[in-house]
Amino acid sequence: MPQKVHRVVFQPDGRTLNVPHGQTLLEAAQAAGIHLEAPCGGKGTCSGCRVIIPRDAPPPSEACRRELAGEEIRRQMRLACQVRVERELRVVIPEETRLGDQKILTEGIERKVALAPNVRKVAVHLPPPSVSDQRADGERLLDALAEKGLTDLTIDVKTARDLPARLRSLEFHPAVVVIGDEAVHLDPPGAADACYGMAFDIGTTTLAGYLTDLTTGKVAAVASRTNPQAAYGDDVIARIEYCGREKSGARQLQALVVDAMNEMVAEACRRADIKPSVVYEVTMVGNTTMNHLLLRLPVQQIARAPFVAASASAHAAAARDIGLKIHPLGRVYTAPLIASFVGADTVGVILATGMHESNRLRLALDIGTNGEIVLGTRERLLACSTAAGPAFEGARIRYGMRAATGAIDRVDLQGDKLALHTIDDAPAVGLCGTGLIDAVAAMVEGGVLGASGRMRSASDVAADRPALARRLVGANGERAFLLADKKETDSGHPILLTQKDVREVQLAKGAVAAGVEMMLEEFGAKIGDVEEVLLAGAFGNFIRPDRALAIGLLPGVAVGKVKFVGNAAGAGARMLLVNRHLRQAADDVARGVEHIELSQRPDFQARFAEAMLFPAGKA
Ligand code: FES
Repeated sequence: MPQKVHRVVFQPDGRTLNVPHGQTLLEAAQAAGIHLEAPCGGKGTCSGCRVIIPRDAPPPSEACRRELAGEEIRRQMRLACQVRVERELRVVIPEETRLGDQKILTEGIERKVALAPNVRKVAVHLPPPSVSDQRADGERLLDALAEKGLTDLTIDVKTARDLPARLRSLEFHPAVVVIGDEAVHLDPPGAADACYGMAFDIGTTTLAGYLTDLTTGKVAAVASRTNPQAAYGDDVIARIEYCGREKSGARQLQALVVDAMNEMVAEACRRADIKPSVVYEVTMVGNTTMNHLLLRLPVQQIARAPFVAASASAHAAAARDIGLKIHPLGRVYTAPLIASFVGADTVGVILATGMHESNRLRLALDIGTNGEIVLGTRERLLACSTAAGPAFEGARIRYGMRAATGAIDRVDLQGDKLALHTIDDAPAVGLCGTGLIDAVAAMVEGGVLGASGRMRSASDVAADRPALARRLVGANGERAFLLADKKETDSGHPILLTQKDVREVQLAKGAVAAGVEMMLEEFGAKIGDVEEVLLAGAFGNFIRPDRALAIGLLPGVAVGKVKFVGNAAGAGARMLLVNRHLRQAADDVARGVEHIELSQRPDFQARFAEAMLFPAGKA
């Protein structure tokens, strides 16, 4: 006997399936490739698979009564895994139940993220009002949106003012922009696909922005800039001091970063061939100072004991209030912070690497001007910050520069000879962070630097390494090491690495290494227990692990355990843009992570001094 089937229409896509009698709605959807949230796998215990059956919904099962609120049941909401198909049905899949298939990539790490943005743009057909249908324009619109699975919305009051005229000019066929729970704007129906957001990672030194198509979750264009605030101090303390000194300092720094963000929005939109007015939301991760300056929150107390933020919460603000030139009713979401020196960028790294969900003991290092370190598993995560300083970003190094054309980015010691590589194979202009690490590693290996970091004299080195000894020169009364002579450089002047430069590297690597050591101790683990070392940040991505190990920047782990995760903070910002539910996870991470204040530990200075030594000289 042929099996009895029933017609089931899934809205809003209108997919029609012939479902065998007795199959659950969840099974039917899964068999047809309609992906619904189902974390409990259909056991009726997670409430992920909510659907609405607007007409003749079957009576709620026991699981539905347990998992759904009374109000939801009255609105004909049911759990798809609990509804057996026994007749023809029309089923609306709410936005939050639909599981997208967006993958967020950072180098070496791939995270699957359901497409559930906070901004949605939905084309709807409204029946025009008549004597027999006198619903208000607003309710008419909300009803049409509910049919599309967008329930429990309100209408922004400005939108309500324009609604009658706008609806009629669009012949009751608008593409409605919904941000969060609010319908904020009506576009012509043809513009329904133009729905974008931009995720920002606002670093002390660099800014990165990812223009993202919110209908697909894919990045449409990327823009980056040097943080223009750097002109007022290369680390956060210097910028906070500037704000304290100058009456309008904070306003000035805010305007600088906002101008840069606006340029980045414009540049990314140009590349993607869209207008900034179809960018409806910006998400932002950044350290606490960057977050506060952007939001115009006070910063002075961050730098004074006991070092507290004005607010560690996530914030939602009107883009217009911040000065961002996206859609006039667009919004800004800033991710929550962990502590005064461990910001939302670290929350982004944790989300993107999934450290908060992993059973494996992992260590993440984001080495920028301010180095952040995270250690732990899903059971317990520790985070701290350590003032690495801007040496690895090229600052405070005599011939330091950013990783741009002509930067020496690689130095190898081959016998007695130095082999240099420059970016774009151009004549050498200066030395970027990776070149700096390589150069110092070569000097340690070549016996030019002692364990203390003191540069040996040419005569001390001459016996073993005559060619290297010839590179030891004097410069303004201090010892220096000749990296590139004048024939190899762009300017015709030699490029040197001075004793002071080496000290800067020691300060930076000492801060990171001491931080890692103390975190391991606090966690009660040894470096050998760490299963993976994740290197985050643009700089981390180019480090050669064996070189970083050679100078003691990275703890003594096998090179194979080191994994590059690229701009994981930026990937976190994208995840928060693409899936609004992750904002709750971000709050949980920010509140759940244990912050370790290194400088308050009595033995920190001693550990730091010890960690400044080069490995060759230890023990
Ligand atoms: S899948 Fe978990 S309640 Fe239905």
